[in-house]
Amino acid sequence: MTDAEGGTHTFSDVEEGVSLMELGRRNGVAGIMGDCGGGCACATCHVYVDERWWDKVGAPDDVEFAMLDMVADVMKDTSRLGCQVRMSPQLDGLAVTVAPASGY
Ligand code: FES
Repeated sequence: MTDAEGGTHTFSDVEEGVSLMELGRRNGVAGIMGDCGGGCACATCHVYVDERWWDKVGAPDDVEFAMLDMVADVMKDTSRLGCQVRMSPQLDGLAVTVAPASGY
């Protein structure tokens, strides 16, 4: 995970089902706030998924997309909310970058 200041973080022994937001918060990743606690209601866990991983991570559902649309000024085609991406063995090695704060 690349943080908002360009620092990189790798995580080992990641338990299945933990969200990217939770991982970021636990490990003090700059830019991952998670203000709503994972309720898909704040977008302070916004990340850009590395394009190589997009097919495995998948697109946001309608509720998540609507929240991302609130931060459209910094949204990209590979945007996801970190609280909505749950880690699994299939995502071992996943690369994401924390999105900059929205001006919204
Ligand atoms: S923690 Fe609020 S939308 Fe992810």
